[in-house]
Amino acid sequence: MPEQITPALRMTAVNRAYHDGSRLVTVLDGLELLVMPGEKVAIMGSSGSGKSTLLHVAAGMDLPDRGDVAVCGQSIGSMPEPQRTRFRARRIGLVFQDYNLVESLNAAENIELVCWLTGTRAEPGRLNALFEKLGLEGLLDRRPDQLSGGQQQRVAIARALIHQPALVLADEPTGSLDQSTAEQVLAVLSQTVSELGCALILVTHSDAAAAHCDRILALRQGRLGDRNAGCSGRLARRRLDRAGRRSRCSRSPPIGPDSDRPIQPTRARPRSAGLGADHPLAGPGTNAAAGIART
Ligand SMILES: Nc1ncnc2c1ncn2[C@@H]1O[C@H](COP(=O)(O)OP(=O)(O)O)[C@@H](O)[C@H]1O
Ligand SMILES: [Mg+2]
Repeated sequence: MPEQITPALRMTAVNRAYHDGSRLVTVLDGLELLVMPGEKVAIMGSSGSGKSTLLHVAAGMDLPDRGDVAVCGQSIGSMPEPQRTRFRARRIGLVFQDYNLVESLNAAENIELVCWLTGTRAEPGRLNALFEKLGLEGLLDRRPDQLSGGQQQRVAIARALIHQPALVLADEPTGSLDQSTAEQVLAVLSQTVSELGCALILVTHSDAAAAHCDRILALRQGRLGDRNAGCSGRLARRRLDRAGRRSRCSRSPPIGPDSDRPIQPTRARPRSAGLGADHPLAGPGTNAAAGIART
């Protein structure tokens, strides 16, 4: 019998509703999603359609009212909160529109924070390879306020990938960047995710960004469907042409200045100062309550 491959993410009949005053607003309504290891899926949809909610539920930061969410075959809804937070920290990488770097830590410390939170240790070889891939050599001792937006997002991507998660969830990761920087950051995110074999779910409004993915889905009325369903053949073709033209223009980011000495990952446990209880990386299993900025 052929060996069964465990999906990186399986969302089954997921429902999530919120109270808006006395009104109950259903955001996810019987949503189904299957993402296999190494697969890249773009999710598009109008503002307020529930894209961030979907990612929060996929990451176990928010629980569905009904339905099941399994990451790497493990149902996260049934885990007690500290276990779910630890599981998320180990198996999931998160990238946000506004980077969410800790201002008081330098780039290397921000990245290593994940290892500290998960109690893991990244091999120096892997750290160096990742920094090089993301063009971060020479920037590692800079604090976020000494980095451009594109550089900060590359640090955030390194932080999301350093522990080789099975699933990377990116919520409009280039929403704060200009078009050319956005293209560079996306190209490097997409390429690095492929090289590491992670599955990626990319929430985006951009056709060019979505073109980096294997599948493009649209979130409408609480469910996922084919992005081009319901639009004319001509509009669908125009969208594909536009996305193709833009993605052909994409280039890898410039690699930072070569350093003579090998990059030394900081060994010291990063100062926890600045990692407030509302920081997305924090959680009960990591000494603080989980939270996430909505975009
Ligand atoms: N914690 C919450 N409490 C109440 N309503 C929420 C909450 N989170 C999201 N919503 C509502 O759910 C809907 C979808 O939000 P969101 O997932 O952020 O959409 P998108 O990311 O697609 O813009 C919005 O109407 C939003 O106001
Ligand atoms: Mg959002």
